[in-house]
Amino acid sequence: MTELDDLAELAKRRGFFFPSNEAYGGTAGFYTYGPEGAALKRNLEDTWRDIFVREEGHMELEAPTVMPEAVFEASGHLDGFDDMIIECVECGATHRADHLVEDAVEDIEDAEAYEPEEVAELIADHGIECPSCGASLADTDVEEFNLMFGTNIGPGSSSPGYLRPETAQGIFVEFPRLKEYARNQLPFGVAQIGRAYRNEISPRRALVRVREFTQAELEHFIDPETDDPPLERVADVEVPLYSAESQNADDGGVETYTVGEAVEEGVIGSEWVAYYLGRAMDFYERIGIDMDRFRYRQHLSGERAHYAADCWDAETELGGNWVEVTGFAYRSDYDLSKHGEYSGEDFTLFRQYDEPKTVERATVDPDMSYLGPEFGGAAGDVADALESLAGRDRSAFDGEEVTVEVDGESYTVPVEKTGFSVEEQTEAGEHITPHVVEPSFGVGRLVYSVLIHRHGTDEVDGEQRAFLDLPADIAPTTVAVFPLMTKDGLDDRAEELAHELRENGFEVAYDDTGNIGRRYRRQDEVGTPYCVTVDYETLEDGTVTVRERDSTDQTRVAVDELPGALRQLVGGATLSEL
Ligand code: GAP
Repeated sequence: MTELDDLAELAKRRGFFFPSNEAYGGTAGFYTYGPEGAALKRNLEDTWRDIFVREEGHMELEAPTVMPEAVFEASGHLDGFDDMIIECVECGATHRADHLVEDAVEDIEDAEAYEPEEVAELIADHGIECPSCGASLADTDVEEFNLMFGTNIGPGSSSPGYLRPETAQGIFVEFPRLKEYARNQLPFGVAQIGRAYRNEISPRRALVRVREFTQAELEHFIDPETDDPPLERVADVEVPLYSAESQNADDGGVETYTVGEAVEEGVIGSEWVAYYLGRAMDFYERIGIDMDRFRYRQHLSGERAHYAADCWDAETELGGNWVEVTGFAYRSDYDLSKHGEYSGEDFTLFRQYDEPKTVERATVDPDMSYLGPEFGGAAGDVADALESLAGRDRSAFDGEEVTVEVDGESYTVPVEKTGFSVEEQTEAGEHITPHVVEPSFGVGRLVYSVLIHRHGTDEVDGEQRAFLDLPADIAPTTVAVFPLMTKDGLDDRAEELAHELRENGFEVAYDDTGNIGRRYRRQDEVGTPYCVTVDYETLEDGTVTVRERDSTDQTRVAVDELPGALRQLVGGATLSEL
């Protein structure tokens, strides 16, 4: 069995995650987190929140998952959020065309960056066959398929809506209100952890490509001219970078830089993106990603999302493949400009100058007693067009006449009738559309990576054991309490102790089935870092055995001191330091 098969079996058997709706035959691309998985995911999200909301001082919101069509017309998702699909003419099965190429051609890792015609050509050249029926896919068209899940809001079809494909849009559309909460001051960040939906062509690799998943996203709004990140906080953090240049070079590979060096040498173009690459290292380490199986990869130019100006992915190695777990994008003012344009609302902020500035402004004051009789119903639009032209190109008013276009028609006006003048004005500032820096984490892929990276086997007392060496504050259960026997009051005392520990804030499991060795194995397998056994000595002297998962060492601790001791252990102490 491969490590992925091992993990899939463990995930199902022990309740980390499993395919949903199996009673009805299952639905590809949907997974349910069982009790262990839901707890692990929650702990991972709390760690994310701790770093990207609390430590960074950002806001968090929770927006609806269904949004009206207009939002996605503006964001570009209805037009540009497509994957390449190929449909087998023999059996009718549909496949993601770029993935077929990646699977079949050794040196192509990112076929997504190619045009559909190029992918069709590669499929033909490499004789790629339909994975479902084996028929040749040569001469089959590769087309774009939009990933949005549509629905109707309310009865009837007059109000189409979509399930959001990224949590980000729920933040962008609320910008006019959010800027008020930020007292109209840049920079500020808004985070959200929530569900996103994509109608993936071929969901695959367990939690890696699903149709409903959780994202943890941060949208950091900045003034690109005046706001710099606190780079000094991460300047010495080491980051493993696989730059676009290295990917294009024959002998290129991952190189480790400090964030400071990477910015200085121009390997990472945006200081803001560099800042978050540095900050995220702390997160990946805290949740238990194996940093020997981790890298940051820069997007190649054809690969960037429709909104992204510069982009890096965090990738983890899973079963021999590199998988994107986080996208770090410099989205510029794309989203806010689009929502401003489409909604007519104000998605700008006022940038105050250090000193008021005196500027020349060209204005017009058209003579409507001339424009009215001359242009009839179009006179008002002609006046607006003159105003706009004066702002854009004052030299157009240099001659005797000026011409403007309205609805495809040209209108020529004598300059003396336009009331054109240039005046000096004092301005305190200007309206700008903020830029956005976005780290976007896929929570499911991170849960999956952590499980694969922390899953191992070793030998204890001559027996093989499977374990998850999860960090103590990420593990679904922090401490398991066992009675040595279910008699002589040991079980009552153990249940009481479990209750006391829960009251002290610990995640506690109670288990009195099977022999003690078996119970240890069960907890090791789900990553519980500590087990406590109540035995006959407990009844005599009030001490219990505390056993550590990783070393399997044991020590005795007084029950009264147990909560404090466990806190020390979770904080990084070893048993011998208690
Ligand atoms: N707002 C930016 C955005 O959505 P993305 O790279 O498309 O960017 C961000 O998605 C993260 O969401 C990815 O790095 C990945 O971890 C996760 N993700 C995307 N599509 C997914 C899918 N179909 N199944 C599971 N996770 C997915």
